[in-house]
Amino acid sequence: MAPFIGSLTVPGDKSISHRALIFSAFSTGKSRVLNCSPAHDVESSAECLRKLGLKITRDEIGVFEIENDGIDSLVAPTDILDAGNSGTTIRLMSGLVAGRPFVSKFDGDESLRRRTMKRVFEPLRELGAQVSAREDTFAPFAITGGNLIGKSFELKVASAQVEACVLLAGLQADGETSVTAPHTVRDHTRRMFEYIGIPFNQNSKTLSVKRLAKPVDAYELTVPSDISSAAFFMVAAACSPGSDLTLTTVGMNPGRTLIVDILRSMGASVEIENARVLCGEPVADIHIQYNGRLKGVAVPPDSIASGIDEIPILAIAGALCDGEFHVSGAAELRHKESDRITSLCDNLKAAGVKVEEQPDGFTVQGQKTIRGGSPWLTHLDHRLAMTGLIASQVFDAQLDIDDPSCMSVSYPTFADDLAQLVGSKT
Ligand code: S3P
Repeated sequence: MAPFIGSLTVPGDKSISHRALIFSAFSTGKSRVLNCSPAHDVESSAECLRKLGLKITRDEIGVFEIENDGIDSLVAPTDILDAGNSGTTIRLMSGLVAGRPFVSKFDGDESLRRRTMKRVFEPLRELGAQVSAREDTFAPFAITGGNLIGKSFELKVASAQVEACVLLAGLQADGETSVTAPHTVRDHTRRMFEYIGIPFNQNSKTLSVKRLAKPVDAYELTVPSDISSAAFFMVAAACSPGSDLTLTTVGMNPGRTLIVDILRSMGASVEIENARVLCGEPVADIHIQYNGRLKGVAVPPDSIASGIDEIPILAIAGALCDGEFHVSGAAELRHKESDRITSLCDNLKAAGVKVEEQPDGFTVQGQKTIRGGSPWLTHLDHRLAMTGLIASQVFDAQLDIDDPSCMSVSYPTFADDLAQLVGSKT
């Protein structure tokens, strides 16, 4: 098991990149987004916006330029808005076009077509949009927008995507639209509204907006590194003797930092250095050193929303810990790019790990080895692919990952960055 030594800057944050592109629909002039995520998911958002008339270019170092003239300049798309694999694209774009007086048709890949869209259809219909969808739940679907009237919503699921969807529609509705999430979720939407000058009100967990009176000015925004991508290397370093790794300029949004809390509670040495603010988002360098075998913990169920995307990789820390690692209150994992509870448990079982699946989580028994050569099925889920690669690395046993190419959905250079980090320091 090779140590992870040195320093790495992972690519720009996917959640923030989607928002930086999509929110420019409300701006006038030429905006620039630096260090944008190279994820295919983000390109899906850019492509949908192009079909709505925004002029978007990307240079070879990943700087996006977006030219627009306010929300009223958006045009009816003549082609399907294809969100690919991206839940954030399809849900945020749905909120955006729900306010536009034309028909927008959406679709996605096989994985996205399996994910429920009811959570956005319900509020958008209540605001006044018309939605027709396959089985009234899934993509493909069509939204006829316009004539929205604001309302208040209490979300049943702690979803930052649904929150953003409702607010994007609310910015085009008469009256006030407000949304309350049941738990703390990533607050990128609120922070970016503040940074680019979109007015809103906040009262505890409730965010409210009114129709945007005039477009905001074009903006320049630099995206922090993605903590959800950094998480793979954090776990790898925490599990591999001799590791001493710094991940630089990582986004530390309070709705995303469960990974730090859990690794620390498992006994890892995680130092947060150079804490600062970048374009309205907290960022820091994360310094992680191997500190002995991790110990088992139970992840607090009410904190799951702040690490929902990191549960797959945390399961590997759990599989290699001393004791038992338990996740509950995480039924949302069943609605991600794959059913992440079943797919994780099945893959771990195939590799000889003792794991018990529950409706809202799983319990894994830590152990020292896994069965090399075991199949690891990704189900078109990028985070499962990267999890499999890190599991192979930290257990020193190659797993047979069926489709590593889906990693490009969020982190196209993941395998190269991993190989370089391990190869150059051993
Ligand atoms: C995201 C919110 C989360 C997260 C997803 C990105 C966002 O989804 O899992 O990867 O950018 O708002 P939910 O809103 O479904 O929890």
